[in-house]
Amino acid sequence: MNMVQQFDPAQLDLSQDYGTPAMNSEVEVTVHIDGMPVTVPEGTSVMRAAAIAGANIPKLCATDNVEAFGSCRLCLVEIEGRNGTPASCTTPCQEGMSVKTQTTRLDKLRKGVMELYISDHPLDCLTCPANGDCELQDMAGAVGLRDVRYGTEGANHLAGAKDESNPYFTFDTSKCIVCSRCVRACSEVQGTFALTIAGRGFGSRVSPSEQQPFLESECVSCGACVQACPTATLQEKSVIELGVPSRKVKTTCAYCGVGCSFVAELRGDEVVRMVPDKQGGANAGHSCVKGRFAWGYAQHQDRITTPMVRDSIDAAWREVSWEEAIGFAADRFNAIKASHGVDAIGGITSSRCTNEEVYVVQKMVRAAFGTNNVDTCARVCHSPTGYGLKQTFGTSAGTQDFASVQHSDVMMVIGANPTDAHPVFGSRMKRRLREGADLIVIDPRSIDLVRSPHVSAEHHLQLLPGTNVAVLNAVAHVVASEGLIDEAFVAERCDRVSFKAWEDFIRLPENSPETLEAVTGVPAATVRAAARAFATAGNGAIYYGLGVTEHSQGSTMVMAMANLAMATGNIGRLGVGVNPLRGQNNVQGSCDMGSFPHEFVGYRHVSDDTVREQFSQIWGVTLREEPGMRIPNMLDSAVSGRFKGLYIQGEDIAQSDPNTQHVAAALTAMDCVIVQDLFLNETAQFAHVFLPGTSFLEKDGTFTNAERRINRVRPVMTSRTGRSEWEATCALSEAMGYPMPYESAAEIMDEIAELTPTFAGVSFDLLDELGSVQWPCNDQAPSGTPIMHKDRFVRGEGQFMTTPYVPTDERSTRKFPLLLTTGRILSQYNVGAQTRRTENVVWHSEDLLDIHEADAEARGVKDGDWVEIASRAGETKMRVRISDDIPAGVVYTTFHHPVSGTNVITTDNSDWATNCPEYKVTAVQIRPVSEPALA
Ligand code: SF4
Ligand code: SF4
Ligand code: SF4
Ligand code: FES
Repeated sequence: MNMVQQFDPAQLDLSQDYGTPAMNSEVEVTVHIDGMPVTVPEGTSVMRAAAIAGANIPKLCATDNVEAFGSCRLCLVEIEGRNGTPASCTTPCQEGMSVKTQTTRLDKLRKGVMELYISDHPLDCLTCPANGDCELQDMAGAVGLRDVRYGTEGANHLAGAKDESNPYFTFDTSKCIVCSRCVRACSEVQGTFALTIAGRGFGSRVSPSEQQPFLESECVSCGACVQACPTATLQEKSVIELGVPSRKVKTTCAYCGVGCSFVAELRGDEVVRMVPDKQGGANAGHSCVKGRFAWGYAQHQDRITTPMVRDSIDAAWREVSWEEAIGFAADRFNAIKASHGVDAIGGITSSRCTNEEVYVVQKMVRAAFGTNNVDTCARVCHSPTGYGLKQTFGTSAGTQDFASVQHSDVMMVIGANPTDAHPVFGSRMKRRLREGADLIVIDPRSIDLVRSPHVSAEHHLQLLPGTNVAVLNAVAHVVASEGLIDEAFVAERCDRVSFKAWEDFIRLPENSPETLEAVTGVPAATVRAAARAFATAGNGAIYYGLGVTEHSQGSTMVMAMANLAMATGNIGRLGVGVNPLRGQNNVQGSCDMGSFPHEFVGYRHVSDDTVREQFSQIWGVTLREEPGMRIPNMLDSAVSGRFKGLYIQGEDIAQSDPNTQHVAAALTAMDCVIVQDLFLNETAQFAHVFLPGTSFLEKDGTFTNAERRINRVRPVMTSRTGRSEWEATCALSEAMGYPMPYESAAEIMDEIAELTPTFAGVSFDLLDELGSVQWPCNDQAPSGTPIMHKDRFVRGEGQFMTTPYVPTDERSTRKFPLLLTTGRILSQYNVGAQTRRTENVVWHSEDLLDIHEADAEARGVKDGDWVEIASRAGETKMRVRISDDIPAGVVYTTFHHPVSGTNVITTDNSDWATNCPEYKVTAVQIRPVSEPALA
């Protein structure tokens, strides 16, 4: 007798296509597939049950990341007691069902179906780019097709047009079998709804938007349709050019904090394409245009692959060996130490580098330099997250995994634009919103989520920049004063004294929506409706971005959100939580790895004697107990002549930090600046030593994404520089007298695990076994922790913090009457060093200033005109775009192109607790100017 094959999701090989999506039902049914019993969740299709049982039914229009469609009729089966031959992809399993997947009758029917498809398909397999990787070809083989009775003389689509407008993929309509997999992928997975089936019957064809070329359509080039296409109709241009790949390596995207997993497919040492990994914990097989297609920068001609030195920043660069460059840098740093003391040097780690690379930099600064002057680029983005969440919850990290959003009843999105900046998570959010969750957006701009196909925000609190805390206090005031506090949660989980102080504070009339309306610009009724929706929906989740943190009250706002989550009982289970959407790929990791001047790895204060002693023992060196300087302090100290040497890994502070003139003055004043990067960036203008960096395709290590997920980054191709970053750092450290003799990145992770309780169980072996793991990962949580603070907060009881609203000093005045705020767009990434060196420039070749029609009219400015934007810090020029996405009084731009010099005009205001710059509010004036000569 056959054993019943039990359904066990953990045992499934996720790289296999099971034909239809998995079902979540707790009720199970047992069916017999070709006599083999198999038990699956109720609602599972016959096709999927058969695939689980190992009987793969031929299919064309079905694939397991989109709902079944039932159009190709290739997956027919026979079911005992039923007439006809139903399609297995659209037939759900029922208890006791007996299915035959292989019979003479089915063979004949399937051959007939394939004959029809093949008779309307160009039979150019030998020259087709998908030859060997084509499901149509596979299915012809699977059904045993030997000849085609119908000629190709009749009506057909063989002369269909080819659309090559998209820079990354082609659309060859002559090969399309109208299976609609692409249409469903675009709708269900990506949520863009850019594709439709136009026409009817024989004339039905796939069409981007209004029968436009892809490039002009709504398409955002995520690649989901290309991946779903079973033929070469939608095909990567790189595959057409280079051929079908011959080997694969799993790795992680190096762009944003979503941390998508990819399978890099190569021929020899050349990447042919990056395919999103279905097993990826963060992305489950989806991607955005950056990770999927914009990896060409790794081999761009601008890359510097040889170390360079020069005696002064006016001299020409001299190419040298690694040994000479390291020796030059060590001599200079040792000389500064000898003449000016250890506090005259420091280092900056990068959120683009691996955990292991970051760890060795901060170790070198503390142990070899002998100072705690180490900071990270997270200073200018998410340092308030670290401060705010540590105060309230006890640890500096988001509370949930991404999948949690599938259980949210209401999402509050504050100061974030997920569809552009965290696109794969944005698609996941959209899916849940289409299923019926409510959406509250708190943002000066009308971001994509506010209004896009099949998604709209029930509540858009379109506040004035700089008034986040006032709005959230008003929301919390409604919760407290209308009896919406989750008293049971607060009593059981939170500190009563701090709660009482917060409740008394938040109920004050000065925090009411009516009082604050004049300050925030948000109607009181809108605030009240949003507050009620959030507090009463069931599962309420908060997601936020740099629109929260990059303010003078960034840390206050993080604490205000944590207060709201605790007061409404929205912590510690699926569907809730407070979740920073981290900007760069390894912001979480660079913070975890001890990059802040006051903390060792794992957020432990340098003044803690026990912790410091532990590090001293393992590192074999005495460590300083006083926190070192933050980036702004190092720069100020350089301008005043006391700080002399800076090691900057993978960071372009001359472009990304505020008040560019001040940064330039500080860098110019130093005796030795070491820059390690892929390209000669803006900061390298001020450098004496340039150490070439490796791209993510050459790295071996780990990145940690916004959900605390540690992902492996594996070397896909050989290093173009001959040394990884961690090897270069260790060489410099040794040359300065403190050897760090690691053999591999895995060995560095072992030391991190030894020193860090939340990483105690992490190793490369574990990551290779599980794919990824979310910290804390230790004896208490050997497979990691998807959701934090489940039964108790990391700090014990949740701590409420009072959050008085303090207006920023940066206000609109008669001289500077508009408020400038900044953000990102989908196709570009941060300062654009990578994406500007890819075909992505086709979508965003320059930064534009978005301005409301009324403000433009008042200044005599038309769409496309050049304007000068002036703030009290400086001025720059760019073209304007009239937009109704922003309210009157506010202007908005991106900062992806150095020529725009957006940070020339941002001020040096910063968060009171962490010095995170106030990028999101700058008072400006604009005036029309003629086109600059070099533009
Ligand atoms: S690339 Fe993405 S957005 Fe564009 S049509 Fe395909 S699925 Fe839709
Ligand atoms: S383009 Fe590809 S996925 Fe879309 S309908 Fe045609 S064959 Fe199917
Ligand atoms: S969403 Fe982020 S991590 Fe994922 S592919 Fe896009 S840029 Fe890469
Ligand atoms: S795969 Fe079932 S009808 Fe196409």
